[in-house]
Amino acid sequence: MEAQGRQLFDSTPRELPTFVRARLSCTNCHINSGTQAGAAPLFATAARFPAFSKRAGKIIGLRERIQECFVRSENARPVPSPVLTSMAAYLRWLHAKRPNAKRQALKIKGPQRPPSRIRGAVIYADDCWRCHGGDGGGGLKVPPLWGPQTFNDGAGMSHANKMAAFVHHNMPADRPGTLSRQQAWDVAAYVLSHQRPQFNKAYARY
Ligand code: HEC
Ligand code: HEC
Repeated sequence: MEAQGRQLFDSTPRELPTFVRARLSCTNCHINSGTQAGAAPLFATAARFPAFSKRAGKIIGLRERIQECFVRSENARPVPSPVLTSMAAYLRWLHAKRPNAKRQALKIKGPQRPPSRIRGAVIYADDCWRCHGGDGGGGLKVPPLWGPQTFNDGAGMSHANKMAAFVHHNMPADRPGTLSRQQAWDVAAYVLSHQRPQFNKAYARY
């Protein structure tokens, strides 16, 4: 069960082509199958739910939290119950590996000056373009950042603070840790100034 969940985690669009519209696997954000520090690792998650969700305005379970990342971060249609069951099994297995791990949310201090998408465009050309492309569409082994094939505007990553934190810790993938905090905020402002799919609010039913 957890092996199947991990397969879904690592090759999400390929495994679920009729549901997932983004060309993004869970592991593209929760790097190294949800184990990478600084990339929203998921060791503590299975023990955290059920938990109150501000988005939902009520207590939600682990399966509902997984569904949220599908309909927002994967820009997917809601996936069927057996998919959620095997993903939840994978997250429980991760938790069992590191039972004392604490939740590690994507966090970054605020920018020193207001983020600028103009400065961000220059950083993008220097540090992102070579992999994610001039049109933000990514490539063979690189996921897209904007356009029709990426996460929608209801996703956590569509918030500047989450993207800036993710980029500061993990990008550029070949030289992580080389951008300043301000540069991370600037390039996030640039990336998020482009078009992306709209979240379908009908999928916010729990
Ligand atoms: C050397 C290639 C490379 C460079 C350069 C690079 N990335 Fe990435 N990026 C990747 C790969 C590969 C992933 C997926 C990570 C994984 O699966 O382990 C990724 C994932 C991402 C993600 C999360 C997934 C998504 O598509 O939204 C964001 C956001 C991101 N990169 C932003 C940036 C930004 C901003 C820059 C420039 C500062 C940058 N990247 C530079 C290769 C690169
Ligand atoms: C575009 C990037 C992205 C993709 C793709 C993505 N997620 Fe997430 N996910 C996030 C962000 C951002 C958060 C919030 C992290 C934080 O707490 O700061 C999150 C949070 C979560 C949480 C809650 C963790 C906790 O402990 O509160 C779960 C569970 C989760 N994701 C599962 C998944 C699964 C399963 C997939 C694939 C179906 C997936 N995610 C795909 C970005 C992504």
